[in-house]
Amino acid sequence: MIPEDVIDQVSAAADIVAILSEYVKLKKVGSVYRGPCPFHQGTGPNFSVVPRGGYHCFVCHEKGSVFTFVQKRLGMTFVEAVKYVGEKSGVEVRDVHRKREGPDPREPLWETNATAAGWFTTMLWESDFGKPARDYLAKRAISRETADLFRMGYAPHEIGLMRAFMNGLGFENNRLLEVGLLVQKDEQEEPRPRFRDRLVFPIHDATGNAVGFGGRILGQGEPKYLNSPESPVFSKGRVLYNYAGARHAIRRAERVLLVEGYFDVVRLVAAGLEEVIAPMGTALTDDQADLLARSAPTVFLLYDSDAPGQKASFRAADVLLSRGLTVRMVTLPDGEDPDTFVAKHGGAAMEKLLDQSLDVFDRKVQLLERGGWFADLQRKRRALDRLMPTIRATTDPITRDLYLARTAQAAGIERDVLVRELEMLPRRGRARQPERPQSPVSGVGRIGAPMRDMSPREPDFVPRVEHAPESSAEKELLRVMVLHPELIEQIVEDVARVEIDDGDQPDVDLEQLTGTSSVIRDPIYFQIFQELSSGGDLSPEALAERLGLLENDVVETLRAEPGAVVNPPQTVVDSIRMLRARALRERIDEHTRMLPLAAEAEKNGLLRRAEALRKELAAVGGREWRSVRRQVQ
Ligand code: UTP
Ligand code: MN
Repeated sequence: MIPEDVIDQVSAAADIVAILSEYVKLKKVGSVYRGPCPFHQGTGPNFSVVPRGGYHCFVCHEKGSVFTFVQKRLGMTFVEAVKYVGEKSGVEVRDVHRKREGPDPREPLWETNATAAGWFTTMLWESDFGKPARDYLAKRAISRETADLFRMGYAPHEIGLMRAFMNGLGFENNRLLEVGLLVQKDEQEEPRPRFRDRLVFPIHDATGNAVGFGGRILGQGEPKYLNSPESPVFSKGRVLYNYAGARHAIRRAERVLLVEGYFDVVRLVAAGLEEVIAPMGTALTDDQADLLARSAPTVFLLYDSDAPGQKASFRAADVLLSRGLTVRMVTLPDGEDPDTFVAKHGGAAMEKLLDQSLDVFDRKVQLLERGGWFADLQRKRRALDRLMPTIRATTDPITRDLYLARTAQAAGIERDVLVRELEMLPRRGRARQPERPQSPVSGVGRIGAPMRDMSPREPDFVPRVEHAPESSAEKELLRVMVLHPELIEQIVEDVARVEIDDGDQPDVDLEQLTGTSSVIRDPIYFQIFQELSSGGDLSPEALAERLGLLENDVVETLRAEPGAVVNPPQTVVDSIRMLRARALRERIDEHTRMLPLAAEAEKNGLLRRAEALRKELAAVGGREWRSVRRQVQ
């Protein structure tokens, strides 16, 4: 037997294209490789290999992983195949009785976490401190058995208890600080536990090492969940909650259920759906998608059905499609998450929802169709702009063909037109859809929406700043709003007029499928903008209460930077002008790109409209500031 983590390592390290190339003459076609199929001795390029994925023959339908290929072509057992591929990939593979040269340097940290986890469990079940947490679990109908399966625990309020216990066992403070179980602001201060008054979920890596914790507050409060900080053993973007626990079930079921939260995982497992895992409050990363791609061919997304949830799941889908996975989307009833749904209706009802799931692309097209987004040329153009990136991201050639056909049919456009567009390089220079799936601010989007991405709360967070002139227009506009609240009303009106009026808007909000506000695009600025224009109390204290940490930081910076706004009304005029110019430039671009979709009879109209937009753009003028000087004081 070979340990699963070694299999994963080999699989991650293996260059499937290089290994198969010894047996098949492969040629790069787009993002995949094609050649004659060695299984049915074909001559045409029907055998397709996806880098980091698997192989597939369109004619004889042979398919599999790098391991299956080696097993079948060279007549090896699985273990032999792993060793063979390992050798080619520089990963040493030994059977279970492997000996390491020395201990892994991370072992002391894993041990620290595991020991603390044990102590948290004792606190939960065997101490008086644990009573509120026990009550909490009872209220959420989580049994002792289920809690133990996840090694749940409780971190009490007391400052010194955990430290005393750990110190007593020889775990010194520096180690506790390193894994983030303790935090210390400065040398003088007494180190405090990071998790206090929280239910804790130990988090394990793929091999089952304890790498960190997620802690849920027992009642209301912020943040609802607190995670371990990034450390030598813990990286939120690389770990998936319950991956180690679910791996066998995933292999058996040949599918992964991807949910958003800890409790969703716990509830589904308790209901017998064991192949379930969750990222930890961040957008799904490439690393996590790789992990999934190695364990099952199909991922079911079970995200909240509200707008941010939908957005997050379409975003996750693109990452998964780029790894050659099949992605299906489960639609939960409004207001439910997998946890509440299964608690109410049981596992069988959830199975039914899984049966009713749609391929993620079909779901996207369905939403667009229902919203009337294929009704006219301009809407079609915009709908295509939401669909093309997904088609582009899709690496599996069969799936990609299906998506193309589906799009052509839904939009009533020749498939060839779409193929030509796909073959062009993705457009640049338009920020309409900020490409930042890993961005720490990706979860921000709606007031009162659950924070989907907690990295802003973590010290390693570095805001990404766009340097386009329009980004500074957004910023200066916000600064005026912060410094001169009396101008807010006017600004809100001006901003509403920046968007180019197209008459009727279809009822499904396109922004919900991707993107953010169409005028104030930076999600943080947009959040602040909404709060400032909400009509609430704008005193700095009241504002700080309502804004997140990150937004507050930005507001502070806007206030503190001296001398940037010389003449507020003129700054407003300038900013609005730049934003309008951006909207116009984009609309002109859109018209140009509508041309290939248009019937002959429509083309003249399009060109005329584009010309009118160009004239307006010329009149609006360029990107220069007239009123802002960065003064050195
Ligand atoms: P949700 O806000 O959807 O919570 O966050 P939930 O999972 O339904 O939690 P319960 O059922 O109210 O207990 C989804 C996930 O996002 C991360 C956590 O991983 C959470 O499970 N999250 C959420 C954070 O990291 N921090 C937060 O403050 C909130
Ligand atoms: Mn929940």
